[in-house]
Amino acid sequence: MTLFVCSVQQFVSDLFPSFSKDAYDINALFLKYLIFSGFLVTIIGGVMVTAIVRFRAKKQPKEPDQISGHKNLEIIWTIMPFVVITFFFILTLQTLRAINKPVPKGEKPDIVIIARQWWCDMRYPNYKVAAANELHIPVGKKLLMQIESGDVVHDWWVQSLGPKIDAIPGQTNYAWISADKPGVYLGACAEFCGAEHAWMRIRVVAEPQADFDRWIQEQRQVAEIADDSVSQEGAMLFARKTCLGCHTVSANPDGTHIGPDLSHLGSRQTLLSGMMPNTNENLTRWLENPQKVKEGALMPDFMLNKDEVKALATYLEGLK
Ligand code: CUA
Repeated sequence: MTLFVCSVQQFVSDLFPSFSKDAYDINALFLKYLIFSGFLVTIIGGVMVTAIVRFRAKKQPKEPDQISGHKNLEIIWTIMPFVVITFFFILTLQTLRAINKPVPKGEKPDIVIIARQWWCDMRYPNYKVAAANELHIPVGKKLLMQIESGDVVHDWWVQSLGPKIDAIPGQTNYAWISADKPGVYLGACAEFCGAEHAWMRIRVVAEPQADFDRWIQEQRQVAEIADDSVSQEGAMLFARKTCLGCHTVSANPDGTHIGPDLSHLGSRQTLLSGMMPNTNENLTRWLENPQKVKEGALMPDFMLNKDEVKALATYLEGLK
């Protein structure tokens, strides 16, 4: 029996990689729907095909006998769907109960996600730390996420870690997140939210507690600006070109910023919400003409010259 349960779990995990109990429960439920629906489609399709072949028009077609009303048949086709729907309703309720651990009264969220076109502002209120697009979590801990939207409806979804939760303007939603194993887990916004919806990717970095603690400590420090003249020039430009109007580099997420926190941009894996690897070359391309790279993003074209772009890219990539 144990062997059977293990192999079923393995089968679900192979089909839909699941790295938390919640993700496993959701994916297992989906698989049950899939198998049972497949079974129903086979039976209904089989009966239909049989009827079409067996009762097709004969050589001298005459209208077949017409049947009007059939009490037993009508009772059967009312009861059967009712049973099927009730069965799935109970299965779904069980899964919902298992994954939606109630949020204790007064519980503060571990993480606040504010989804925007087209990136995610991620804050750790207990540590006064902000990140963007790349969420770091410690392995084996169930964390409470508070999910909001800064503009339109978005949808948080990292399939291998847990449920899909809408980010709705004016409404606060909650969900739990956890990962059993260290790794990088990919997700995406799952609600069409505008032109660059496809480039609203999510990256969750799950790491052992000690590594997570170290990361938090690093994020709390203001990154040092490199000594070279290009980086220093970049820092000056960053202030002069009003970048600070939208972004912050002070490792202090209390201020309201409408663009991603850039305090430690250099330590991220990707740029523009998972759109491209975080390299000096890609950052340069973005700064040269943001609208050419991610059309519709709120970042305006500052008409920077080549030297200014180089200075800004060097400065920002140095913020680790
Ligand atoms: Cu945000 Cu789709």
